[in-house]
Amino acid sequence: MPKQQTVLLVGGTGRTGARVLQQLLGRGIAVRAIVRSGRKLPPDVAGNPDLTVIEASLLSLRDEDLRQHLRGCDAVISCLGHVLGFKGIFGPPRDLVTRATTRLTRGVEALRPPTPVKFILMSSVSVNRPGGLDTRRGSFEKAFLWTLCRVLPPAGDNQRAANVLLEQVGPNNAFVQWVVVRPDSLREGDVSEYTLHESLVNGLFAPGSTNMANVAHFMCELATDPRTWSDWKSRLPVIVNARAGSATAASPRGTRA
Ligand SMILES: NC(=O)c1ccc[n+]([C@@H]2O[C@H](COP(=O)([O-])OP(=O)(O)OC[C@H]3O[C@@H](n4cnc5c(N)ncnc54)[C@H](OP(=O)(O)O)[C@@H]3O)[C@@H](O)[C@H]2O)c1
Repeated sequence: MPKQQTVLLVGGTGRTGARVLQQLLGRGIAVRAIVRSGRKLPPDVAGNPDLTVIEASLLSLRDEDLRQHLRGCDAVISCLGHVLGFKGIFGPPRDLVTRATTRLTRGVEALRPPTPVKFILMSSVSVNRPGGLDTRRGSFEKAFLWTLCRVLPPAGDNQRAANVLLEQVGPNNAFVQWVVVRPDSLREGDVSEYTLHESLVNGLFAPGSTNMANVAHFMCELATDPRTWSDWKSRLPVIVNARAGSATAASPRGTRA
């Protein structure tokens, strides 16, 4: 029998993270979820034998405890985000996603796994690819984003977390491989047709839509499908809902457009 895959999930009580959790369990994946409160998990996952809930504060877990939770995992998925509201946006920890990304990737590196662990980070279209590769972004939008990153802690945090993967972990790490998933404006709704893009599709001032269920679906595909992983590893794919009737909307899965 093939070995059951194991994923460590952080942010599993959030809007997108809960969907990732449900879809992973639906695929028969074993999930270890580090959460602040197990009571905030979706009720339908309670008692699932494939789910291990670890109630802890991710940023203050001892290194050896975090390594213990990471040991044997094939993938780590982060759906962390700053809780909407003044305290969540401007209060500590302002560098939640960056610190979590650093801790989790360093924890994996310390374990020196025989095959690289996949690290999948939920990010945003406000995050830039390095070297000005997101050519769709005009100079006004770049200046606006630059300001946003300095004024709004979550925006800067998301960019710095991506930079940890791009610059510190890098593309040739023997122990950690990564993908930064960039959805547009998050929406409710079921899994539907979606498209995947190397670069931006919409401007910041005319945003597109991405169902949270589609983000979860793509993250699960990354964790479980080797072809999807090899297509996108070390990249920052943009995911958007397919427009009805578009040429790329015919596939039952995410389509590379
Ligand atoms: N809103 C959008 O349209 C949009 C678009 C694109 C990308 N994004 C990005 O997508 C990500 C996820 O968004 P979402 O709306 O699904 O998230 P969300 O519902 O706000 O969930 C955030 C998650 O992070 C956890 N969290 C927050 N502060 C924490 C802390 N100090 N320690 C440990 N865990 C903490 C929350 O745990 P608790 O349940 O315990 O609070 C929750 O599980 C964010 O990074 C966001 O920037 C958002």
